[in-house]
Amino acid sequence: MTHKVTLIPGDGIGPEVIQATVRILEATGVKFEWESFAAGAEAFEKYKEYIPKELNDSIERTRVGLKGPVTTPIGGGFSSINVELRKRFELFANFRPIRNLPHIPTRYPGVDLIVVRENTEGLYSGIEHEVVPGVVESLKIITEKASTRVSRFAFEYARKNKRKKIHSIHKANIMKLSDGLFLRCSRTVSKEYPEITYGEHIVDNTCMQLVMNPYQYDILLMENLYGDILSDLCAGLVGGLGLVPGANFGHECAIFEAVHGSAPDIAGKNIANPTAVLRSALLMLRHLGETDAALKIRSAIDEVYRDRSKLTRDVGGTAGTSEFADAIIQAMETQSTAVAASDQP
Ligand code: NAI
Repeated sequence: MTHKVTLIPGDGIGPEVIQATVRILEATGVKFEWESFAAGAEAFEKYKEYIPKELNDSIERTRVGLKGPVTTPIGGGFSSINVELRKRFELFANFRPIRNLPHIPTRYPGVDLIVVRENTEGLYSGIEHEVVPGVVESLKIITEKASTRVSRFAFEYARKNKRKKIHSIHKANIMKLSDGLFLRCSRTVSKEYPEITYGEHIVDNTCMQLVMNPYQYDILLMENLYGDILSDLCAGLVGGLGLVPGANFGHECAIFEAVHGSAPDIAGKNIANPTAVLRSALLMLRHLGETDAALKIRSAIDEVYRDRSKLTRDVGGTAGTSEFADAIIQAMETQSTAVAASDQP
């Protein structure tokens, strides 16, 4: 069977890490038909649209996307196309598993937690205006519908994958109405899952708890902005942004992308780490039912990290993006056994 997948290479380090990942995916023997499109500033130059109609139609058709990061201008310019894609296709649950890789020295070995971030509203609704010169207002939208569906996603995932605990992360002591509603929704949903321990932590305390003792958490459930910030903090616990994958799930379709951005500071130098996008592609392979290929790549990643001679600079190596990809492909070719099944990329 051939899988049709919409490919968004993105910009900055996007094309480099996506190209490395596509090469590895194709080396598994799984057949893909890629429908590749520009997005953001690059697309605007060509089509006068930040999300070209062809890209939109392709996602509607394939219902699966693999995406590199896309730059969003700071303090002005066009709105984030990353946020727009999530809203447009109702990709309401952002799923970010945080797990150490072998032989990457970090303060905490054996971290294994998951950030589930509401993906369609909160302060990311982007409703801002200037009330009078010198005063601006930014609206945080929290709805019962979105809070309930992302809570249900987290609890269903926990039940299916035998996860034990969910903490809902909030600031309902200050934002009593908005975060209060989010909390009430996760609390209500939690009652349907008595086998899963449910807890609530305030977001600032959670940051401290995470850097003191990340092992106390299993699944962290939260609204959009807290999820964005805590994901990067959690990435720091396991070796950095070059490693952590993500997936945006909706009822109709899913787009797989790393937590990191376009990293303009290292773009075009063949030094970016493609592991985060590759692990996002593993989540995609599982979504497509290609579990054997996912296990094959996962086992090759473990081997290359154990060996250490072909790692990129962010994790202490000297290899380039393409050399790392070559090493993964070679490890897959020489592999005799696949690793045991796991819910993690
Ligand atoms: P960033 O994630 O691009 O970079 C932060 C730091 O991590 C930089 O030092 C970078 O070199 C490093 N880094 C990131 N990915 C790496 C990789 N694969 N290998 C090695 N090092 C890596 O975050 P930043 O600088 O805040 O944002 C840059 C741009 O990316 C902005 O325009 C932002 O809006 C956009 N962005 C896009 C996202 C998306 O497309 N989903 C997500 C996050 C940011």
